[in-house]
Amino acid sequence: MDIKAKYVFKYDEKTLKKNYDNFLSRLQEDFSGERLDALMAMYETDHIRENYMIAPASGMIYFHNCYIGGLIDHVENVVRNAKALYSFYKKSGGTIDFELEELVFAAYHHDLGKIEDGYGNAHYEINQDDWSIKKNQQYFNTNKKRMISDIEANSFQILNKFGIKYTQKEHIGIICADGLYSEDAKKFLMPKSFGEESQLKTRLPIILHSADNFAAKIEGDEYYRFIGETKSTLQSKLFDE
Ligand SMILES: [Fe+2]
Repeated sequence: MDIKAKYVFKYDEKTLKKNYDNFLSRLQEDFSGERLDALMAMYETDHIRENYMIAPASGMIYFHNCYIGGLIDHVENVVRNAKALYSFYKKSGGTIDFELEELVFAAYHHDLGKIEDGYGNAHYEINQDDWSIKKNQQYFNTNKKRMISDIEANSFQILNKFGIKYTQKEHIGIICADGLYSEDAKKFLMPKSFGEESQLKTRLPIILHSADNFAAKIEGDEYYRFIGETKSTLQSKLFDE
């Protein structure tokens, strides 16, 4: 197995299951009450568990966490960064205009639509075509069976389907997680009008985007170390389709 294939398949089945159980334990530390019950019901649903356990965070090897089980690692990295940036922002004199739980919730769910579409159709599938893997470095394709391919739309579809309530700040945070890399987020982050009605009214999306961006870059660095290269990369993209 070449080094890139080793990276893609770095977790065995036992480790993937353990990672998922650890994820559920962290969720129980970060949430409580009715929302935790609803989240646990969602993450313990068979098709969500099966698709999430193996989902990569991206499809191209040089993007970020392009390996089986990479999405859970990415989400946990974003949650960790979000908590750290929350403290950093506050200590540095920034005004925190949201609850920590809102930031953490948005961090946990900003890439929910990379698991599946809410109907059991996984977002990614393993690319079986050796020629395109070699040519394009694309180890995972997006699943053509999905009727809606938009990651954010699928994130909200899953949350709504499982009756998970979210605040408006969490909602905007999830829409804007990809920052100015996303056309949808630009409407909020770079409004065409300077009127107050168009302005972003919370710092949550800015902190979440920084957490996501840092996670993707650090994960890109980890990939290059894994394959024995030390160069930094501008790629390690936040998202891909
Ligand atoms: Fe992300």
